[in-house]
Amino acid sequence: METNSVSKLLLLVFTVLFVGSELIHCSVTYDRKAIIINGQRRILISGSIHYPRSTPEMWEDLIGKAKDGGLDVIDTYVFWNVHEPSPGNYNFEGRYDLVRFIKTVQRVGLYVHLRIGPYVCAEWNFGGFPVWLNYVPGISFRTDNGPFKAAMQGFTQKIVQMMKNEKLFQSQGGPIILSQIENEYGPESRQLGADGHAYTNWAAKMAVGLGTGVPWVMCKQDDAPDPVINTCNGFYCDYFSPNKPYKPNLWTESWSGWFTEFGGPIYQRPVQDLAFAVARFVQKGGSLFNYYMYHGGTNFGRSAGGPFITTSYDYDAPIDEYGLIREPKYGHLKDLHKAIKQCEHALVSSDPTVTSLGTYEQAHVFSSKNGACAAFLANYHSNSAARVKFNNRNYDLPPWSISILPDCRTDVFNTARVRFQTSQIQMLPSNSRLLSWETYDEDVSSLAESSKITASGLLEQISTTRDTSDYLWYITSVDISSSESFLRGRNKPSITVHSAGHAVHVFINGQFSGSAFGTSKDRSCTFNGPANLRAGTNKIALLSVAVGLPNVGFHFETWKAGITGVLLNGLDHGQKDLTWQKWSYQIGLRGEAMNLVAPNGVSSVDWEKDSLAVRSQSQLKWHKAYFNAPEGVEPLALDLSSMGKGQVWINGQSIGRYWMVYAKGSCSSCNYAGTYRPAKCQLGCGQPTQRWYYFSIQLQHYILILSKILFLNIFFHINWCF
Ligand code: GAL
Repeated sequence: METNSVSKLLLLVFTVLFVGSELIHCSVTYDRKAIIINGQRRILISGSIHYPRSTPEMWEDLIGKAKDGGLDVIDTYVFWNVHEPSPGNYNFEGRYDLVRFIKTVQRVGLYVHLRIGPYVCAEWNFGGFPVWLNYVPGISFRTDNGPFKAAMQGFTQKIVQMMKNEKLFQSQGGPIILSQIENEYGPESRQLGADGHAYTNWAAKMAVGLGTGVPWVMCKQDDAPDPVINTCNGFYCDYFSPNKPYKPNLWTESWSGWFTEFGGPIYQRPVQDLAFAVARFVQKGGSLFNYYMYHGGTNFGRSAGGPFITTSYDYDAPIDEYGLIREPKYGHLKDLHKAIKQCEHALVSSDPTVTSLGTYEQAHVFSSKNGACAAFLANYHSNSAARVKFNNRNYDLPPWSISILPDCRTDVFNTARVRFQTSQIQMLPSNSRLLSWETYDEDVSSLAESSKITASGLLEQISTTRDTSDYLWYITSVDISSSESFLRGRNKPSITVHSAGHAVHVFINGQFSGSAFGTSKDRSCTFNGPANLRAGTNKIALLSVAVGLPNVGFHFETWKAGITGVLLNGLDHGQKDLTWQKWSYQIGLRGEAMNLVAPNGVSSVDWEKDSLAVRSQSQLKWHKAYFNAPEGVEPLALDLSSMGKGQVWINGQSIGRYWMVYAKGSCSSCNYAGTYRPAKCQLGCGQPTQRWYYFSIQLQHYILILSKILFLNIFFHINWCF
């Protein structure tokens, strides 16, 4: 008796401890229906917000708005190149403060999907890889290559350890419920064959071995090995099934809009089509979807990839670049989320029964054992409405739409019926005054004198600059005999400059001759123009400009940029090939070397007083002005429509590259008149792709612009508006 009661007591004590430790150590697993958090299958609604694309001051507000919009999860990539700018030197400050970002999500009460990559694509410079990685001996990116795998593992481990130290995984009580390794590696892997497959298996094993206690995913990776879940990315994912029947159906990138490229149009995705795609995924049994992007933000500094990705990464997302709610996208999706959440119990506890309601109409019904019932009624016809009978009731379904009935009776939401007005952003001039303009010339004529880099022939740009600057000068000289007949008024010679990308400005004897630009489709370009040569020694200076490093494409790390060939045409002996002669190089501009952009300026530089109306003789100039911080708390933007191409800093912070290049191509109407439209439509043709440049800095009286004024004949003015 005695013994018995003692052992019972012990048992009780142990049980409480066990339950207690279960409560502390939360867990995340999955089954074929859903991600399971603390024993509960969940329908998870997620949105991408990339921490370096906004400022820490904005994070709480953005995440709060995401929560109000019905999201459960914030999804972000981890951006290796901002965290490890040189090997072993780390930066997790300011916009790069990953831990602060995740803790902000936790404080607001949402989960995190941490997509470590470390390859991220994301229209981000070099797909997130640090440029130095490319110069590690023997390296080959994203394949079964020792040096690459060592570096990738090192960074992944570092991030995982950092998260563990801060107890940020759900298994430790933190908000991270999922992690991603690699990114859309499937197509790459197929191209590589055995090496690709071996690398996939290695990456999965390496990640799982880190023991985070939460599941790993690989997106667009059909052969993701167990226990890693393969997931879908795309405008639509209703066709998708995971590679094993015991894995849940997850959609890691439901594209809410699209990114923009300098010279291209602005894309929009109608919210009706987006909501339809999401509802279609959920009715098929999908249990997590993530909007890529929920807030796109800004590619500050030189973080944009591409090349040619714009500074704005607005993406037509539900929260716009300025952090403002975009209607009807935000509100309509919020309604959709509410309707889906009302169905959650039925969705996670049963499989749909699909019945036909007509040629183009279907019902998906989820009924759980305990009586919960949810139905999705779909009309797939792209432009005819339908009246369907379901459970003896009539339902009207607009074309290309799904109605959600959380109790199998009441139509609480239809993807095509939008009850929100379109929000319009109004740019208003601020009350701030410009106090003065000063300018500083990049002196093209004195180039090369101090150059330390010389070579016989033309160097590849990125391996020369290591991307420390967008700019690389190629300088050479050519002797012209006084007997050349063009000097006596015959046909002038011309110069041909071939470039592998991305843009080139040509100067002869200090005079600007012209420019050529590649495009996102063809990075290379050729300049052909008159060569204003004289008898004696002539100086040829070519300014090659990178506009963001590639972020996607088979072995993009091997793609070249810079000048590849230079020819003079129309001389007495015909063509003169300058390609293989001696060239001198200067990495970056003088103003960069002197750090003109530092918040407190450089006193040794003679800035010239300028006025807005003064026309400058030089094409390549730095412009500086002070202004009073505008009053109010509204987001601010610079109107750079009167500028050319360059970069802009405020208080030492680069707010990005600007370029008033016009959007080419044909635009399609974005009016969604209740009928199916392609997933994205295009706006802004014939206008500069990006006119407004967002900044949210706690600004203090200082602005500096490096401007290569090409299109505006030097005269410029600047407006800023909020
Ligand atoms: C996906 C990629 C993302 C992003 C997106 C387009 O394929 O995974 O990182 O680049 O395309 O915005």
